Amino acid sequence: MSTEEKVASHYTHGSLETAILQILSTSGKDIDNLRLRDLAGVDEFHLGRHAATVEFALDLDLSAGLRLADIGSGLGGPARHFADSYGCAVSGIDLTEEFVQVAKSLTALCGLADLVSFRQGSALDLPFESGSFDRTTLIHVGMNIEDKARLFAEIRRILKPGGRFGLYEIMQMREGTLPYPMPWAMEPETSFVCSSDVYRHLLEEAGFAVELERDRSALAIRLAHEARAKAAAGEGRDPGFRTVMGPRASERSSNVNMSVEAGLLAPIEMIARAV
Ligand SMILES: C[S@@+](CC[C@H](N)C(=O)[O-])C[C@H]1O[C@@H](n2cnc3c(N)ncnc32)[C@H](O)[C@@H]1O
Repeated sequence: MSTEEKVASHYTHGSLETAILQILSTSGKDIDNLRLRDLAGVDEFHLGRHAATVEFALDLDLSAGLRLADIGSGLGGPARHFADSYGCAVSGIDLTEEFVQVAKSLTALCGLADLVSFRQGSALDLPFESGSFDRTTLIHVGMNIEDKARLFAEIRRILKPGGRFGLYEIMQMREGTLPYPMPWAMEPETSFVCSSDVYRHLLEEAGFAVELERDRSALAIRLAHEARAKAAAGEGRDPGFRTVMGPRASERSSNVNMSVEAGLLAPIEMIARAV
């Protein structure tokens, strides 16, 4: 199996759409009149979840009509936010076929299919024309991709000159051994976390100027504390989180949260301009 096949298999659930619709229905949502906010908690797979997407979007200088490619779009939560809140035309691409199918289905149920589309494919061989996007985003995807030089070259290729690339990625902040399983990999074999220095260097090599860098650890730590407080009060983790994360969800979540709290990892946002 290639690394990409292993990564896609890691994220594949098998009956994710049925499970998500069941969770939504059990929590009283009207599946036939689904609103975007009904999906909160089930459609974003990154530290800080929807709150982080909202903050990240503020730095992307988005406006109606801009073409945005979300690379590694997962279940499509961030893509739908960029379209719904700013009017961007969003193209999502993801390696995991099941995520793409569920992303399409949830988007149609929310009535956003005119603005947001998804397709299966690799971030290392983007099926988009050169110079065709104003914005690109990469949210918690680089941890699964070893060849970041090729990833950034592909992203630079599809951006228009002057276009912006927003990354919100888990980066390694100091020497140390990561605990596994992590949310993105059960073992180190398909995990390629690296430092912000490496990201910055490779972005510059690929033709980007990094204009902004923010450490979003505080938000991730606050949400982890809130989740722990809920668990201690007997409320438990929400079922959406467990379903999307899959096997050993609590252990994987706890490993990444503890690594952020210990300063070993951090969710870092960077905004880079195509020069
Ligand atoms: C942790 S999830 C994040 C999903 C989404 N960006 C979000 O924030 O909700 C990582 C996603 O990256 C995708 N991915 C990993 N490697 C990829 C690659 N080489 N090409 C495209 N997608 C990839 C996975 O299939 C998965 O959907």
